[in-house]
Parts: sequence; C-alpha cells; structure tokens
Amino acid sequence: MTGVKILLTGAGGQLGRALMAQIGQGGSLAGTHLLLPVDLPEWDITNRAQVFATVREWQPDVVINCAGYTDVDRAEAEEKEAFRVNALGARDLSAAAFQVGAKILQISTDYVFDGEETIPRREYHPVNPVNAYGRSKAWGERLVRETNPRHFILRTAWLFGEGRNFVRKIIALSREKEEISVVADQFGTPTSAADLAQCILRLIQTESYGTYHATNEGESSWYSFARRILALTGIECRVKPVTSRELARPAPRPRYAVLENHMLEVSGLFKFRHWEEALAEYLQVEETGKRVYQ
Ligand SMILES: NC(=O)c1ccc[n+]([C@@H]2O[C@H](COP(=O)([O-])OP(=O)(O)OC[C@H]3O[C@@H](n4cnc5c(N)ncnc54)[C@H](OP(=O)(O)O)[C@@H]3O)[C@@H](O)[C@H]2O)c1
Repeated sequence: MTGVKILLTGAGGQLGRALMAQIGQGGSLAGTHLLLPVDLPEWDITNRAQVFATVREWQPDVVINCAGYTDVDRAEAEEKEAFRVNALGARDLSAAAFQVGAKILQISTDYVFDGEETIPRREYHPVNPVNAYGRSKAWGERLVRETNPRHFILRTAWLFGEGRNFVRKIIALSREKEEISVVADQFGTPTSAADLAQCILRLIQTESYGTYHATNEGESSWYSFARRILALTGIECRVKPVTSRELARPAPRPRYAVLENHMLEVSGLFKFRHWEEALAEYLQVEETGKRVYQ
C-alpha cells in the first residue's frame, strides 16, 4: 500500500514519535506514506472547528489518533478535561474522518477494565473502568464506534518509547537511590511503542475493522518489570515490593489488566513478540543512543 495519506494526531507523544520514526523522514517506510503530523500547542483536538477543517483540507485516507489526556492521576481532579480530549475529541476526529471517507484508528487502554478477573481480558469482555481516565477512554471508544464504521480501536498498555515512561523513571530513580519501592500487586503487559507502531501500520492497510487488544506477549507486575529493567541495565539498586495501598495514588488502578491479543491472533493480522525481548532491544538502543526501528 503506497501513497496512503495519514493524519497523525499527538505526533509528539510517545506513540506518535514511534510512528513518525517509521513513516517520517529517515524511517524505514519513509516515502511510502504522505504524513501530516499535528499536536499541541498548534493543533488541539478539543477545537472542533480546527479538527474538521484539518481533515477536510488534508483529505486523509487514514486518521491515527495518538492524542490523549494521559495523566491518570491528574484525571481524577480533571475528569471533564480528560473527557474533552479522550471522548469528545476522539468523537469529533472520528466524525470528521467519516465525512471524507477516511478510516479512524483510535488508541485505547487496558484501564477500560476493572482488573477484578485473573485471566487475560479479550476484546468482547465487558468494560468497567475504575478511574476517570479509564472512563474517558471507554467513552471515547464508544463514540468512535458510533461515528465511523471504518474504525480500528486498539487497546494497549504500559508503553515504553521516546518520552516519559516507567522504564526511564526506574533507571533515573535507581541511579539516585539505594532502594526503590515498586507496586507488586498490579499486573499488565509492558509494550514497546515501536512494536505497536508496526502493528498499527499493518492494520491500517486492511479493511478489518473492529476492536483489538495490542500489547507485547507475556505479563508482569510493575515490581517484576522494574527488576527486569535493572537486571538488563546492570544498575545496582534494591527493589522493595509494596502494595497499591502502601503507595497510595490519587487514581485507583485495575489489579489485573493483562490483555489477550485475541482478535489479532484469530485474524492472523499481527503477532507481537514477548515484552522482555522488546525491552532488551529498547534498553540496548537507549544505551548506545541509537534508536533503530525496522
Ligand atoms: N502510555 C501508556 O502507557 C499508554 C497505555 C495505554 C494506552 N495509551 C494510550 O495511547 C495513546 C498514546 O499514548 P502516549 O503514551 O503516546 O501518550 P503521550 O506521550 O502523553 O502523548 C499524547 C500526545 O497527545 C497530545 N495531546 C494532549 N492533549 C491534546 C489535545 N487537547 N489536542 C491535541 N493533542 C493533545 C500530547 O501533547 P502534550 O504533550 O503537549 O500534552 C502528546 O503529544 C493515548 O491515547 C493513551 O491514552 C497509553
């Protein structure tokens, strides 16, 4: 598929940058797609007129929405703002895409689930978010489904790429301290933003619309994730396992938010590798300072 016109929102965020690295200048897919990257402060998804004008003028084939209100704790105090971005913004973008016959790809989250189960969640399991961020994302999913039948909704989790993320936070903290406390009773799947970008670029070439879980394979607690990061980097620091209750945060988190990539598996559209393999590659690149996306 060549010459696909893409409108990429949230282009400066973690996932946006991973997509840019592949389809933007210097990326392995550079030149195969026509890309319009947009982001704050110039472009605001909550500005309805701007959203519709951009889509009307650019006439994309595909809109990839990586813009998001992603501060899970702050969302508790700013739920309306989270809804404006994650629900209403997504709706307007999706409706604008529909007007020009474009596909919409919306990024959602494992936090749409309550985490009360102990087996990985499939796409058809009922959502029941436990925090404001999760509610805004779940409602965003629904509004995208209602406004554009040509939608892909990808639920992902625990992203690491270019930007602020858990991996970088653990490395920074462990260099400063002799011991760090990490939550051991929340489970999910660390996911490479670069791997997710590959999955996205595969899906948008198809007409296989619907909801997909899209994470690396495997599962982990934040505690085990932190230990793996330190083992791979060779940084000496004690990691103390603590409970969510001990490390009280403003937003409650789902306890077990592991996603099964069931729809990707059934359709045979994309296979993710194990998160530990993706993490090892990510850290190697962080160390050498050379980020390579294939
Ligand atoms: N990170 C994760 O672990 C994770 C897990 C599950 C799902 N997701 C979802 O994946 C998507 C991408 O996440 P990410 O990690 O790349 O997030 P990110 O690094 O926070 O990037 C989000 C981008 O959206 C932009 N943005 C925020 N408000 C906006 C607005 N009103 N209009 C236009 N752009 C706006 C941000 O700009 P500023 O930086 O200037 O605010 C930023 O560039 C989001 O939908 C998120 O909910 C992320």
